[in-house]
Amino acid sequence: MKTAVITGASCGLGEEYLKQVINQMPDVEEIWLVARRLEKLETLASRFAKHRIRCLSLDLTDTESFEVYRRELEVSKPQIVLLINNAGYGKLGLVAEADCAEQAGMVDLNCRALTAVTVLSIPYMERGAGILNVSSIASFAPTPRMTVYSATKAYVSAFSKSLGEELRPRGITVLTVCPGPMATNFLEVADIVGRSRTFETLPYCYPEQVAKKSLARLLRGKRWYTNRLLYKFYRVLCKLLPHSLVMKFSKT
Ligand SMILES: NC(=O)c1ccc[n+]([C@@H]2O[C@H](COP(=O)([O-])OP(=O)(O)OC[C@H]3O[C@@H](n4cnc5c(N)ncnc54)[C@H](OP(=O)(O)O)[C@@H]3O)[C@@H](O)[C@H]2O)c1
Repeated sequence: MKTAVITGASCGLGEEYLKQVINQMPDVEEIWLVARRLEKLETLASRFAKHRIRCLSLDLTDTESFEVYRRELEVSKPQIVLLINNAGYGKLGLVAEADCAEQAGMVDLNCRALTAVTVLSIPYMERGAGILNVSSIASFAPTPRMTVYSATKAYVSAFSKSLGEELRPRGITVLTVCPGPMATNFLEVADIVGRSRTFETLPYCYPEQVAKKSLARLLRGKRWYTNRLLYKFYRVLCKLLPHSLVMKFSKT
C-alpha cells in the first residue's frame, strides 16, 4: 500500500504536512502519523476521516520505539512513497548551565531518531519515493545559546545532502527543509518566549506555507528548501563569511 510516514505529526509543522500530503499526493493510500501524544494524533486523524490514517504513539528518544517501528513495517510491508522526518525540538540556553537530559535528548531525537527511522524505512522505498528532512536555518552556522540545537540541525542538513547522493541512483529524492522561526509549540518547548531578542526581531515563517512549498519542491525532484528571501540570503552569507564572524549575529 502506498504509504506516507510523518514524524512529529501531532501539531505544528507536522500537522501542516499531513494536510499537504492529502492535498498534493492523492495517490497515497495510507498515512502513518508518529508522535508521543496519541490523543492529539487521533483527534487530528478524525478530522480527515475519509482518509486511511494510522496513529503510532512512539517516543522517538527511546530506542525501543525503533523496534516497534521496525515490527510495524515488517507486519504491514508498506510501500513508503514519502517519509517526512519532522519530529524535533530545541532548547534556548548556555550549554554550561543546561539540563543534561534535555541537551542529550535533542541529539537523540533530532539526529539519532531521524537516522534510525530513515534507515528502517529505506528498504520499503522504491524508485520515485521521497524523504523530506526538517532541518533549520540554525544549521547554516553555529548558533550560540542554541548550540546543541544548531549542531543537531547541521547534522540533519549534512546527513540529508549525502544521503541524497547515495540514493540518487535508486531514484529516491532527499529534500532538506530549513525554516526560520515559526509560531508553533516549538517556542514554548524551547523556552524562547520573552528570552531572546533575536527571536523577537526575526521575521516568522508560516508553517502552512513551509509545508506546502517544501513538499511541492520535493515532488519536483528538488533537494533544498529555505523559506523567505532573508533566510536564503543568510544561507549565502554563512557560506561566504567565517563562522567566527557570523556567530556575532547568529547568537540567539
Ligand atoms: N518552530 C520553529 O521556530 C522551527 C524553526 C526551524 C525548524 N523547526 C523544526 O521544525 C520541526 C517541527 O517543529 P514544530 O515547530 O512543528 O514544533 P512543535 O509544534 O513543538 O512540534 C514538534 C513535534 O515533534 C513531536 N515530538 C517531540 N518530541 C518527540 C519524541 N520524543 N518522540 C516523538 N515525537 C516527538 C511532537 O509531538 P509529541 O509532543 O506529541 O510527541 C510534535 O508533533 C522540528 O524538527 C523543529 O526543529 C522549527
